[in-house]
Amino acid sequence: MMKARSMRADPVHRYEELAGYVTALIDNGTLRPGGRVPSLREIGRQRRASLSTALHAYRLLEDRGVIEARPRSGYVVTKGGPIALAAPELSAPPGKPVNVAVSSIMAKLLEHAGDPRLVPLGCAIPSAALLAAGKLDRFLARAARVKGSEYNTYTVPKGDLRLRQEISRRALRWGQVLPPEDIAITCGCTEALALALRTVARAGDTIAVESPTYFGMLQVIEALDLKVLELPTDVRTGVDLSALGRAVRGGAIKACLLSSSFNNPLGCTMPEEKKIAVLDLLAQQKVPLIEDDIYGDIYFGKERPVPFTALDRHDNTIYCSSFSKTIAPGYRIGWVASGRHMQRLLGNKLASTLCGPGLPQAALADFLSSGGYDSHLRRVRGTFEDSLHQMIRTIDRAFPKGTLVSQPAGGFVLWVELPAAVSTRALFHQALEQGVCFAPGDVFSASDRYGNCMRLSCGQSWDERMETGLRRLGALAGEAIVRKGHDNGDV
Ligand SMILES: Cc1ncc(COP(=O)(O)O)c(C=O)c1O
Repeated sequence: MMKARSMRADPVHRYEELAGYVTALIDNGTLRPGGRVPSLREIGRQRRASLSTALHAYRLLEDRGVIEARPRSGYVVTKGGPIALAAPELSAPPGKPVNVAVSSIMAKLLEHAGDPRLVPLGCAIPSAALLAAGKLDRFLARAARVKGSEYNTYTVPKGDLRLRQEISRRALRWGQVLPPEDIAITCGCTEALALALRTVARAGDTIAVESPTYFGMLQVIEALDLKVLELPTDVRTGVDLSALGRAVRGGAIKACLLSSSFNNPLGCTMPEEKKIAVLDLLAQQKVPLIEDDIYGDIYFGKERPVPFTALDRHDNTIYCSSFSKTIAPGYRIGWVASGRHMQRLLGNKLASTLCGPGLPQAALADFLSSGGYDSHLRRVRGTFEDSLHQMIRTIDRAFPKGTLVSQPAGGFVLWVELPAAVSTRALFHQALEQGVCFAPGDVFSASDRYGNCMRLSCGQSWDERMETGLRRLGALAGEAIVRKGHDNGDV
């Protein structure tokens, strides 16, 4: 089990009170992210505190990531605000392959995703308002008008050539030469993952995965009658290298399925050197790597993390991604890329869907070549980063003491570990009754783990409704702990 650490202490000192006062000004919107904070002298005068108390308070706020000192501007509110919560520790799955039997939670979450009455913390998709839908509509309408019935036929099995060329061009930005002929367009990343797994594994084989991992991957693995070996995973740097080494040297692993960056649900990203070590290890042991880079474009840092495939000197990677998290979940356009495995991938693609619909592919190719995608990405990245930070701040204030939370540097999901007394599966049903949806932790594992964890998604601009919903969730978790205390006779 992950170990819980205490979340924060109640303010007792004068400087802590002062820090609490400034935090409250940020929370109630008086001070805005990026905006100036009163100088030490001003705050000291306003709150009748000495200069050294004010300095002490501001240092505390700096340590918590609430404010930062800027040359010539004094102190400003950090974009997004405080991150005072500790992160969960390395996960500890059981260490042996297991059959997968994830419940029908995915269908349930998708069903709730479209329900406007629910606060949407459950499904990891960006809100319609963020998706530049109007622009895409125009490209779609234009493609239909200009090309007419030309698109109402089968496309080549690999999909629209112009779209594949656009994808190749984007790969060049992280230094990878990925020829369009090594790319096949798929029905979302889900089909790409399924094709990749069917290409390298047979029923009964074992696939090594991160733990916790995206339940859709588990669902695909289950549908193909494969087993999983869940690997201990660090919330920041991904799977534990020595555990992976032991697993693949044992000879029972048929393929390894990892996220390139900002894994769902932990948000972890391997540093480049670790990615290279994983690639060398897997190539040595002749275990192919399937990578899922669906969140790669949603990075908050200066540069996009480089996917495994671009670092792979062994041609041992099958790359999977899609446009679902950034621009068009409804277009169902993803892609799978590989040199060595392309023929077999394509055979599987032909057997599953023959080819994809041409018109959305053409519209997306036009949109990408217009240059609109980059400005769109810049906008959504800013929104996701801000929303995640707001979410962490709200959890800090409204969730029970002992709650731990991930601090991803990209994507738009958070992994929250609650005190052991909370069953998030029970909470899930209570929360739905109160109009809030989230994903309970146990569905991210095939081995009955993470029953006190949850994944929260925030694919939209932060607003009062999200905050109220999240607070409600925190209150329900608090009540569950009190109830459990009563049941155990602690009170
Ligand atoms: C890690 C990961 N891979 C794949 C998918 C599915 O992608 P798509 O909608 O493109 O099939 C998701 C969706 O949540 C995801 O989080």
